[in-house]
Amino acid sequence: MPKHVIIFASGTGSNAENICKVFEHNPNIQVKALFCNNPNAGVINKMKPFGVPVYLFNKADFENEASFLEQIQSYEPDLIVLAGFLWLIPAYLVNAFPRKIINIHPALLPKFGGKGMYGHHVHHAVIEAKEKEHGITIHFVTEKYDEGPPIFQARFDVQDTDTEADLARKISKLEMQYFPEAIRRVLGA
Ligand code: GAR
Repeated sequence: MPKHVIIFASGTGSNAENICKVFEHNPNIQVKALFCNNPNAGVINKMKPFGVPVYLFNKADFENEASFLEQIQSYEPDLIVLAGFLWLIPAYLVNAFPRKIINIHPALLPKFGGKGMYGHHVHHAVIEAKEKEHGITIHFVTEKYDEGPPIFQARFDVQDTDTEADLARKISKLEMQYFPEAIRRVLGA
C-alpha cells in the first residue's frame, strides 16, 4: 500500500509543486489532496498537471472539527505536510495526527519563528540581525507556531552582500532539495 500524503498550503506553492513532481512516479508515496485556505493562492493551479484534488476551506470550515476531520480522514493520510501554510494548526488536528504533521520553515529555528515570521519577513529579520548563517528547518507540528521537535536543518553562510531576494533564492533551493527527502524519510517509504 502506498503511503498517503496531504499537503496544506496558502500561497505560491513551489514546495507543493516540487513534492508532487518528485513523488509523481513513486509507487510508495501518493499525494492525495491539497488543502488550501486561500482561494487566490497560486498553488491551486499548480496541482492541475498532477490531478491532485484541491479542497478549499475557510476559518469556519477549519473550526468545524468533526466535518473537517472527516474530510481529512477520507484520504487516510499517513502524513500531513505544511508547505507554506500560514494558519496555526488547532489542537484537535494535532491530537488526531500525533507526529504525523510536519512543517517547513525558512529559518534556523528556534531563531526567527513564530506568528508573522514567514516569507520575506524572515529574510528581512535575518539581514537586520546581521546573522552569519541562515537556513531551513523541517519539524513536527505542535499547537504552537514553529515549536515542534526538529527533523532536519540545512544551512548556509550569509554574505555581507546578500539581499532579501538572495536569501529567498538560497532558501528556496534548500527547500526544493531537502523537503521531499525528509517526507520520504518520515514516512519510511
Ligand atoms: C516557504 O519558504 C516555506 O518555508 C514558508 O513559506 C514558503 C512557501 O513558499 N513557510 C513559512 O514561512 C511557515 N512559517 P511556497 O508557497 O512557494 O512553497
